[in-house]
Amino acid sequence: GTLDAGSLRTPIVAVLGHVDHGKTTLLDRIRGSAVQEGEAGAITQHIGATAVPLSTISEMAGALVDPTDFDLPGLLFIDTPGHHSFSTLRSRGGALADIAVLVVDVNDGFQPQTEEAINILKRTGTPFVVAANKVDTTPGWNPQEGQPIQQSLEQQSERATSRLNENLYELIGDLSDEGFSADFYWRVQDFQSNIGVVPLSAMTGEGIPDLLTVLMGLSQRYMKEEMSVDVTGPGVGTVLEVKDEQGFGATLDVVLYDGVVREGDTVVVGGRDEPIVTEVRALLQPRPNAEIRAEKQFERVEEVRAAAGVKIAAPDLDDAMSGAPIRVVRGDDEAALETVTQEVREELAKIEVDTAEDGVVVKADTLGSLEAMANALDEAEIPILRAEVGDVAPRDVTVAQTAKEDVHKVILGFNVDVLPDAEEAIEHTDVRLFDDDVIYQLVEEYEAYVEELER
Ligand code: GTP
Ligand code: NA
Ligand code: MG
Repeated sequence: GTLDAGSLRTPIVAVLGHVDHGKTTLLDRIRGSAVQEGEAGAITQHIGATAVPLSTISEMAGALVDPTDFDLPGLLFIDTPGHHSFSTLRSRGGALADIAVLVVDVNDGFQPQTEEAINILKRTGTPFVVAANKVDTTPGWNPQEGQPIQQSLEQQSERATSRLNENLYELIGDLSDEGFSADFYWRVQDFQSNIGVVPLSAMTGEGIPDLLTVLMGLSQRYMKEEMSVDVTGPGVGTVLEVKDEQGFGATLDVVLYDGVVREGDTVVVGGRDEPIVTEVRALLQPRPNAEIRAEKQFERVEEVRAAAGVKIAAPDLDDAMSGAPIRVVRGDDEAALETVTQEVREELAKIEVDTAEDGVVVKADTLGSLEAMANALDEAEIPILRAEVGDVAPRDVTVAQTAKEDVHKVILGFNVDVLPDAEEAIEHTDVRLFDDDVIYQLVEEYEAYVEELER
């Protein structure tokens, strides 16, 4: 390589796709873990992050990747839940991810969340490849553990090959309906103007060497310029989750996408009412190939460089919000602190939901899901009186009671808990609570209720 790998930012790769199409299983295969098996109901509920070093990638990709060809330190994979919007994946500039893998089950083809993912990729202009997953479920398939897909295809019967091709051509057709020219990845010359389709199996590993090769090639070719900026500047990131950790209190799981964060740094984080200004007490880094959501043995470090997943311990984080920005303020500069705080405030204001004089109360678990809820309600022409991140609390009941029309005396809770005293308050009022962890179901439940009331 020509550039010093230490000066390049690790590319961020988002893994997107419809529920159960195999995103987590694909990452499990790459990092050698079993996160998917530990998930309640086999459903990913939160966005996760895993740093996969170049050595792991080249080992998996075998002859397809020569590590000396690459200057990149590895890839930071972001796992996303298929069952609701992942618009939490934002950054100052738009998309948090540099590139994306759109996972599609070859048998199921395009599904609602596949479309939603495509729309977000279009809107943010994120380059992506398609992982045509579960090729091993093709009738008559002869599995070839961990092999490159061309080698595996040579071992398949004509019948299996033609069944698979039928599905793959349907997928290529669906992509073309969305305005993308797509083809089998080995026929693609320019991955920026064409979408490469990589047939693979997250279960048997065949085709994964190909996917990793394409991802490394894409990052190296097209992102090097972006990767070599701002690697030592003040850190910038997005909060994935706010979690209590024993001995630390509330901590933040963060994707750092630019710059550096150090122990002792002053940081500004988006809070429920105002930006929170605090000082980093400890930086806890997951081990290589460990999913930050599942990690139990964090390593305490003095400094973390982008891109990385890191747990940040600091005082006063109780009101921090999932999906909010976090920024490092370097130095003892009052003016810098004021500027950064103002920027965080402005960023949060942009996410704020339009509210009306009368409408429903909305609670959601993250800023991203709150935004997704607001979009869905806007489409359904349901007005919002108040929208906030957090569990359903007694004061939400009080606010819902002030709604003018009966159909609006309602709380819609997405992926949140209902505090016990809120439950009690609801029982003693005419306020109705709907909660669900699927946005469109929540909206449908409410619409059915409105119809019933109007009958
Ligand atoms: P959500 O996070 O809930 O959106 O799902 P996901 O996309 O992460 O899918 P997940 O990894 O949970 O896989 C769903 C199911 O498909 C699991 O039972 C997996 O074992 C299975 N699966 C995933 N990939 C493959 C594959 O390549 N072949 C076969 N046969 N099964 C697969
Ligand atoms: Na799943
Ligand atoms: Mg998953």
